[in-house]
Amino acid sequence: MCAVNRFERTLVTSALPYANGYIHLGHIAGAYLPADIYVRYKRLRGEKVLYIGGSDEHGVPITLSALKEGVAPRDIVDRYHESNTEAFARLGISYDLYGRTSWALHYDTTQDFFRRLDAGGFIHQQEMELWYSERSDRFLPDRYVKGTCPRCGYEDANGDECENCGAQYTANELVEPRANIPGDSSKPILRKSKHWFLDLPAFQERLKEWLDSHTEWRTNVRGIAYGWVNELRPRCITRDTDWGVPIPLDEPGTKGKRIYVWFDAPIGYVSNTRQWSIDAAGDDHLYGDWWKDPGTRLIHFIGKDNVPFHAIIFPAMLMGQGDYILPDNVVGNEYLNVFNRQTGKAEKGSKSRGNMISVRWALDHFEPDVLRYYLCAIAPEAKDASFDWDDFMNRYNGELCDVVGNFVHRSLTMIQKNFEAAVPAPGTFDAEDETMLWIIPSQVDAIAEALENFRFRQAIERFIDLGRKANVYFDAKQPWVTRKTDRERTATTLFVCCQVVKALCHSMAPFLPDGARKLAAILGLEIPVGGPAGGRDWWSEASVRFEPGWPLQSPQVLFPKLDPDRIAELAELHARGEAS
Ligand code: MF3
Ligand code: ZN
Repeated sequence: MCAVNRFERTLVTSALPYANGYIHLGHIAGAYLPADIYVRYKRLRGEKVLYIGGSDEHGVPITLSALKEGVAPRDIVDRYHESNTEAFARLGISYDLYGRTSWALHYDTTQDFFRRLDAGGFIHQQEMELWYSERSDRFLPDRYVKGTCPRCGYEDANGDECENCGAQYTANELVEPRANIPGDSSKPILRKSKHWFLDLPAFQERLKEWLDSHTEWRTNVRGIAYGWVNELRPRCITRDTDWGVPIPLDEPGTKGKRIYVWFDAPIGYVSNTRQWSIDAAGDDHLYGDWWKDPGTRLIHFIGKDNVPFHAIIFPAMLMGQGDYILPDNVVGNEYLNVFNRQTGKAEKGSKSRGNMISVRWALDHFEPDVLRYYLCAIAPEAKDASFDWDDFMNRYNGELCDVVGNFVHRSLTMIQKNFEAAVPAPGTFDAEDETMLWIIPSQVDAIAEALENFRFRQAIERFIDLGRKANVYFDAKQPWVTRKTDRERTATTLFVCCQVVKALCHSMAPFLPDGARKLAAILGLEIPVGGPAGGRDWWSEASVRFEPGWPLQSPQVLFPKLDPDRIAELAELHARGEAS
């Protein structure tokens, strides 16, 4: 059996995507589907779990888009927040709350964090020299200025960091700077501006100790976190912009400045929990249980570019507050690339290439389970993975349809035809029957073990493996032959098959909610797919056997096959950039 969770409740978060573009399959494979599978699994176990997400609505990417389109930042975030909320819901990403960082409650929570860190002596002010465009009469934070990286020579580097080599530097080190605003690529000048800094070095020892206590984290996450913790510098947490949370200080120097997006965004997890608490209980006293009680296990699901924020900076902010818990795990994923058929190579998903597949486009062509299956099967956990159309079709058709779908279908069809649509009464079990009956709980446990350890690829592999073993059993028993000669033998075989079908139904629920719902209806099981289980452990009931005589409804196809011609057409649309 699995290790018992020593926590009372689990709070799961997925990175808040910028409300600046349509959520795509790369995002889903990294930070959303694994989290959703995990919370669905926890709910099924009857555990107390809360899944919080939302849009990240501040920051330069958003104000730049607004400038480019000639609209207000508010128009941008409204558009993408609404669209992404819907895309997540259609895909079955089962947030308890999907919030927004433009909510007043979020402003309030963020300002409270700022004030308390300030009162604790962790925030100080410093004058710095920043790029300023005389033509636009404004400072150029982050991506508003581009230039050549002082370290690697990359020509599209940002004002204070290089996306190419990861270097961080002060503004005056940027080589050949140019403004990066629609209509303004003038040469900026350096001008003084006063900003606020978070004293990260003050947390160094505590951060190290805490990281040392989490040897169970993924190697990639630990590597990045340790790289950071040894080189902590005070970090600027304000910007010259008018889009963001106002600085809660009564000083003239705050004019034209806002709190930096990477300070407020992770606080969104807290403010969205507060909002959930208000919705659920009428006030926000509940959120304290989730954020301040050590009985809560906090788990962040993110892409690897977000590791420093979740494993260093946000924990330091939480430490500075005094009574907040820290994440127990930061599940950071690598990237999902896109396989390019023309070049035969995997390439990074990028807006400018137009090679990304948006969730809304994908859902216009595929059932959610189809996408969920493939994205989990290739989840970029330890290394990058890539989305490839042929692989997509082959894995879904060859594994989910041919192995699991086929086993369920042929078992149920034989019962329907030969045993009056009810679980048959078995005779004596032989060695093969006993083995198959033993495999069920051990395989279900193995799936759970993988899920508990955040190995989602392995979990879904083990799920398919249960189907594979069941097919081997079915083929060995040949019920289609014995049904003419030995009714009792056939009844025994199909009794065993029914137990496998039941286990498949329970154990597919976290991964494939639609399939699980359909199958549960056929089997007459009231599995709470995705919803709260009210303390009952439906997962372990996967191995509780059906009684003989239990009525079954007519089977239907759970996972219809993908058609190669259709896939070729869609791959073609994707290659033309029409899938984003
Ligand atoms: N918006 C960021 C991104 O897409 C993620 C923010 S995660 C949070 O990379 F912690 F800040 F919420
Ligand atoms: Zn560089």
